[in-house]
Amino acid sequence: EVGSPLKDVHIIVTAGPTREKVDPVRFFTNHSSGKMGYAIADVASKLGANVTLITGPTVIPAPNDVTTIQIETAQEMYEQVIKHFEQADVVIKSAAVADYRPVQTYNQKLKKQNSDMQIEMERTVDILNELGKLKSTQLLVGFAAETNNLEEYAKKKIITKNLDLIVANNVTSEGAGFDKDTNIVTIIDKAFNKVELPKMSKYDVAKILLEKVQLLLEERGRL
Ligand code: PMT
Repeated sequence: EVGSPLKDVHIIVTAGPTREKVDPVRFFTNHSSGKMGYAIADVASKLGANVTLITGPTVIPAPNDVTTIQIETAQEMYEQVIKHFEQADVVIKSAAVADYRPVQTYNQKLKKQNSDMQIEMERTVDILNELGKLKSTQLLVGFAAETNNLEEYAKKKIITKNLDLIVANNVTSEGAGFDKDTNIVTIIDKAFNKVELPKMSKYDVAKILLEKVQLLLEERGRL
């Protein structure tokens, strides 16, 4: 009923959390449910796009007509995104990627000690940052999960990560952020034009975001 305005557009969507292992039974992760990213993948596919969804562990069934690739770690997500990047017209990074992982991972379960313990952490690759350096014609859409100074931090991410659009959400607002069915987002483009949206379902956020993506592709003569 909506037609296929995104026909022949290849979109990579990342969703969900990553898991950074300590040992066979323990890992570091976050509260991302994948709802935001899966909504984007589903709506994009219904708008006719050719969608590759690269996702951390979630309980959501894979959407129909979407190529879904399951990963666990930030490094695995990076490798899959890079693998598909050249063929992509748009990358939308709604995943909540770990910024740190344990320096050491153990093949056997760590035994409880009588003393306290420390786990040393190292940086993971910043996938979006790498894509910002690599991009040629691709539209790069980032998310910003903030708890304060939403707009200021989001604008900084647009510049430092060479993004075309950013979707900023204050993850401490009621009805927004991790694991909710709704979100409250501000969409900001490279020229710092912004649209502040009220609380709405993640599906409706996805629709409005993809309209903006469509507009940018049209402006660039790619649709
Ligand atoms: O999955 P849900 O439960 O529906 O929740 C949705 C959400 C809150 C996870 C989503 O709306 C959201 O905000 N996603 C981005 C979360 C995040 O990691 O934000 P950030 O501000 O830390 O990162 C900024 C951007 O860099 C993000 O696009 C992120 O995917 C990317 N990033 C971050 C770290 C890293 N190592 N590599 C990255 O590419």
